[in-house]
Amino acid sequence: MERITEYLRADHHVIEDWLAQSRAHGFALDAFTQMRKVLLRHIAVEEKVLFPAVRARDPGALIDARQIKIEHAALSSLLVPIPDLALAAEVATLLAEHDAREECAGGVYERCELVLGDASFDLASRARGVPAVRASAYLDRPNLRRTAREALEAATRARAP
Ligand SMILES: [Fe+2]
Ligand SMILES: [Fe+2]
Repeated sequence: MERITEYLRADHHVIEDWLAQSRAHGFALDAFTQMRKVLLRHIAVEEKVLFPAVRARDPGALIDARQIKIEHAALSSLLVPIPDLALAAEVATLLAEHDAREECAGGVYERCELVLGDASFDLASRARGVPAVRASAYLDRPNLRRTAREALEAATRARAP
């Protein structure tokens, strides 16, 4: 039996490993594409399974929900352009900060578990059943965000309170 945040923490490691592989010897597109696939699905599990379940039990529990959504949007936007080594480094920077916010003591995951209690085990099975997100082809267009800073700024503007 596994709690949903144990499942999600394991996902973080898989994502980190693929991302590290994509940057290990120059740039490896296949590893980056694997990372992208797992990360897009991971974000979907958090936003469609974990957060709604927490909110349903305690609407005020997700105190940093807006920041988390902004970071998810920023990460997703960095997965749109044709990637390279520099882009993979930007994803790694943003992801390190984001995952720490979720995993740290007193962070998002711990607070979610406090609200969920034993329901967390059922949510983990629901999470396992979430299908892969169908990723579209990388886009070759100017004006796509390629740095963590640009991506965060754009996502913040798009979600102005
Ligand atoms: Fe997240
Ligand atoms: Fe996460």
